[in-house]
Amino acid sequence: MAYLLGLDVGTTGCKAALFDEAGRTVVSHTEEYPLYHPQPGWAEQEPQEWWQGTVGAIRGVLSHGNVSPNEIAGIGLSGQMHGAVLLDERMQPVRPAIIWSDVRTTPQCREITRTVGAERLVQLAGNPALEGFTAPKVLWVRENEPDNFERAVLLLLPKDYVRFRLTGDVAMEISDAAGTLLFDVRSGRWSEELMGLLGLPTSLLPEVRGSAKVCGHITAEVASLTGLAEGTPVVGGGADNACGAVGTGVVRGGLVAVSIGTSGTVLAHSDAPKIDPLGRVHTFNHAVPGALYLMGVHQAAGFSLRWLRDTLGVQGKDGLGPYGVMTAEASQVPPLSHGLWFLPYLQGERTPHMDAAARGVFFGLSGVHGRGHLTRAVLEGVAYSLRDSVEILREQGVPLEEMRITGGGAQSDEWMRILASVLGVGLVRTSATEGPAFGAALLAGVGAGVYPTIPEACDATIQTLSSIEPEPDMQSRYDEGYALYRDLYPALKNLYSRASAMG
Ligand code: XUL
Repeated sequence: MAYLLGLDVGTTGCKAALFDEAGRTVVSHTEEYPLYHPQPGWAEQEPQEWWQGTVGAIRGVLSHGNVSPNEIAGIGLSGQMHGAVLLDERMQPVRPAIIWSDVRTTPQCREITRTVGAERLVQLAGNPALEGFTAPKVLWVRENEPDNFERAVLLLLPKDYVRFRLTGDVAMEISDAAGTLLFDVRSGRWSEELMGLLGLPTSLLPEVRGSAKVCGHITAEVASLTGLAEGTPVVGGGADNACGAVGTGVVRGGLVAVSIGTSGTVLAHSDAPKIDPLGRVHTFNHAVPGALYLMGVHQAAGFSLRWLRDTLGVQGKDGLGPYGVMTAEASQVPPLSHGLWFLPYLQGERTPHMDAAARGVFFGLSGVHGRGHLTRAVLEGVAYSLRDSVEILREQGVPLEEMRITGGGAQSDEWMRILASVLGVGLVRTSATEGPAFGAALLAGVGAGVYPTIPEACDATIQTLSSIEPEPDMQSRYDEGYALYRDLYPALKNLYSRASAMG
């Protein structure tokens, strides 16, 4: 029996999870690390803290499992996308990494769009300039910290930096390179045209590697630090969204992964490079060679529910945790929450508005509304925002045959009942529970020769479980609720910038 180790360098911590070749979890361990907000809208992390978190997570797994390090056939990494890790000649970070949720770069996004041209940018990079992507962050450093920019000789992304620390291999993996806005997603190569137009040296960019390709091996130094066996192969791995899709078996046309984590995503596998000309959904290269995916992103899905929990100070009760208490209360409230809507734009919004200045709204509040109504409106609002993505994917002619749900939110039966009726489709649960770390481990299995291909790895390890179906009465109520939801943002759009000018 071979074992595979998946590492997920996430936003809140690094998860290490060990699986057997049938896909069963042996043990999983997460080490948290800090997220810094030095100014409003900024989000930074220290690469050294990702590294310490990774070492701690690996040690945690090896100390709990009954598996010898020599039985680990391969290691794969997944990671938060887009974070700019700029390294100097000694491979030391020149400054903290600016991560995906940082929105300081609106001026740089405008500059990129002006310089490249909106249409050409979408043709080349498959995407418009968005605050979260990597290129605007690099331009921000060039404009605001010229000394740091001068010292930078190399750009890496979070999980590629950690792979460098594990193996000494300097490379970027394709599904993550796709999120830099410097990559031509159609040809699968760095875009020299984009680098030239933005005045960035191509020497900043490392070689691009395949997701299931062995990129390096655990060094002797890392072996003694972590307890891993020296020489264990490490594959390219994938962006967290690509790995999450692999981990739910979304590796063939027609399959869609709907994820509710901190952010919410609707990701559809595509064998051809389909690109939304309006750039409302992203097109990135998949971990599956030659394939891409289209993805709508909602900045605050699980984040919205966590915000409500913390703001109202909800405590667990009668054996239920705080989320259990909240969803039980929400289930007592009828659909549409007695006329209450929630716009989940607590961190601005990507799909469909691409507006970093958008903000959250409760609309329709009256004296009848209590905590259960607020919770239900949040669950419904996040479901409506995911429907926005589904509508755009339908409009683009992407086949959406089976939707598989994943992420922490998928564990709530009540939220999934609401989501199935809002989307008007059945939602399928799968046997996989470790998210992107599992997808990363499957990629390692392909690289190490345990499975022949990524789809075959998924077939060997992932079972689909029950499906949650839309309920006809609820579905027609939600069609009405969604129509009003769609009208709220345009009505408020111009007020957001006035509100933000007032602080
Ligand atoms: C995708 C994105 C997020 C991060 C979260 O474009 O920014 O999903 O990858 O880790």
